[in-house]
Amino acid sequence: MDSRKIDFLVIGSGIAGLSYALKVCEYGKVMILTKSNEDETNTKYAQGGIAAVFYANDSFEKHINDTLVAGGGICNEEVVKMVVSESTERVKELINWGTSFDKKASGEYDLVKEGGHSEHRILHHKDNTGFEIERALLAKARNHPNIEIYDHIFALDVLTQHHLGAFVNSKTEGIECFGIYALNERTQRIEKILSKIICMCSGGAGNIYESTTNPSIATGDGIAMVYRAKGKTKGMEFVQFHPTALYNPGEQPAFLISEAVRGFGAILKNSKGEEFMQNYDERKSLAPRDIVARAIDNEMKINGENCVYLDCRHLDKKGFIEHFPNIYNKCNEIGIDIMQDMIPVVPSAHYFCGGIDVDKNGKSTIGNLYAIGECAHTGLHGANRLASNSLLEALVFAHNAAIDSISKIPKLEFCNGLPDWNAEGTTNPEELVLMTQSLKELKAIMTNYVGIVRSDLRLKRAFDRLKILHNETEDLYERTTVSVKLCELRNMIKVGYIVIKQSITRKESVGLHYNIDHKNPTI
Ligand code: FAD
Ligand code: SIN
Repeated sequence: MDSRKIDFLVIGSGIAGLSYALKVCEYGKVMILTKSNEDETNTKYAQGGIAAVFYANDSFEKHINDTLVAGGGICNEEVVKMVVSESTERVKELINWGTSFDKKASGEYDLVKEGGHSEHRILHHKDNTGFEIERALLAKARNHPNIEIYDHIFALDVLTQHHLGAFVNSKTEGIECFGIYALNERTQRIEKILSKIICMCSGGAGNIYESTTNPSIATGDGIAMVYRAKGKTKGMEFVQFHPTALYNPGEQPAFLISEAVRGFGAILKNSKGEEFMQNYDERKSLAPRDIVARAIDNEMKINGENCVYLDCRHLDKKGFIEHFPNIYNKCNEIGIDIMQDMIPVVPSAHYFCGGIDVDKNGKSTIGNLYAIGECAHTGLHGANRLASNSLLEALVFAHNAAIDSISKIPKLEFCNGLPDWNAEGTTNPEELVLMTQSLKELKAIMTNYVGIVRSDLRLKRAFDRLKILHNETEDLYERTTVSVKLCELRNMIKVGYIVIKQSITRKESVGLHYNIDHKNPTI
């Protein structure tokens, strides 16, 4: 790929990037960049499904209420209403684009239930819904003459007036974006790509923690890029830990045991085989995720155990295998017969509720820069995301952002005078161990001090230690040639810093942010 100009530049090929591209592609040329293989995204690993109101058992009001309750009272209610009331239409569109969801013998969609939902409302494709969505969207995007997908291209930084030398470095208002610098991994060249509009769809950042359900691409690059470009981020203190990742030490990413398994009747138990969730919440194993993850963390600490267990032994084997073939096979592979043995599970970093702050059209605080999907903070999730609401959020915001950007594009021009990347004076890093060690330290800091349970002292320690890592990494970045590994490390440190800073600022315990020095009367 040569340096070039494009109307719509989309960073990321998950559900957010692909669905936005499919919506704008009739109005200009679209370039989708992805830093790994085309389909290597968090989207591909989604298991449970996508929440939407489909039948008379349910209503928009119930879904809205469940989302608000899970969000701990700090969701943006207008956004919640907007997303939920568009859910049926957007999911039907996804079906029309070629996604297949499981149906019952009656021909109706087989809706399942997850934690925090008062109704069965989750459409799914077995236990690999994300794989099916990614497959369908990629097939459609590949076939459109206006969409080009480039893999193994790593977006480095967003180009703004700061690169024209027009703004002092600290200026945060009136910023516009004009394109990006990107590292082409095949040629090892850094290219300048100019665009009229950028849509950041770069996903989450689970890899800042030691254990995560996210694949290795989830390093928060988009959030860090926008932060460096002086865009606003919000809600980063709300990191969701999925309560039930398979306890299989050393496996990365951690394999998820979908919440839909609990929706199917599996029960959380301790090593003695005793149920414990009734001590924490009347919804027991199907309470919202923040409560279940905290309860498990507490049980593990009280009993000095490395995991708790999911008991499926009482469930219908045939039904289980039909619904959850991948989970069944995975357990079998590591010697767990789910009809005889309980499944060992632990919480694992899973989802970022916060991110690049955007309005109802996905517009960030930087002109012509949209953000959709997990890298964005829309206000939908508040302090804790309701299960299976994130795929839906991506679809709704892709739709709104597309409408808004289509209305703008005829008036936009490419920017002239932006400098090429300057690598003068840099050399190859002498010792890669400096980077691997810094990454280990970052993960340890975030896991031990900024995890499920926090305190003022832990956050301060995390902040002080991260400052050292930050300074060392910035120094390395200035001195050495750019590599994906170094850039990801730099981005992850930036994201860790934002999580800590926003956690320190929030002087209360709400949803996923639980600080023992600012405790509410709950656990
Ligand atoms: P992703 O799908 O993560 O895509 C990010 C893209 O950005 C990738 O293509 C990546 O290569 C690219 N990228 C990142 N940085 C750069 C860079 N610097 N340069 C170029 N490209 C870059 N949600 C639900 O609603 N229901 C579920 O059942 C569900 N199950 C889940 C199960 C698992 C195991 C996981 C990990 C998540 C699950 N989620 C679920 C969450 C959901 O999958 C994600 O929030 C959602 O898929 C994010 O989509 P996205 O398009 O924003 O990002
Ligand atoms: C799951 O299947 O448990 C994941 C659902 C989600 O993260 O929304």
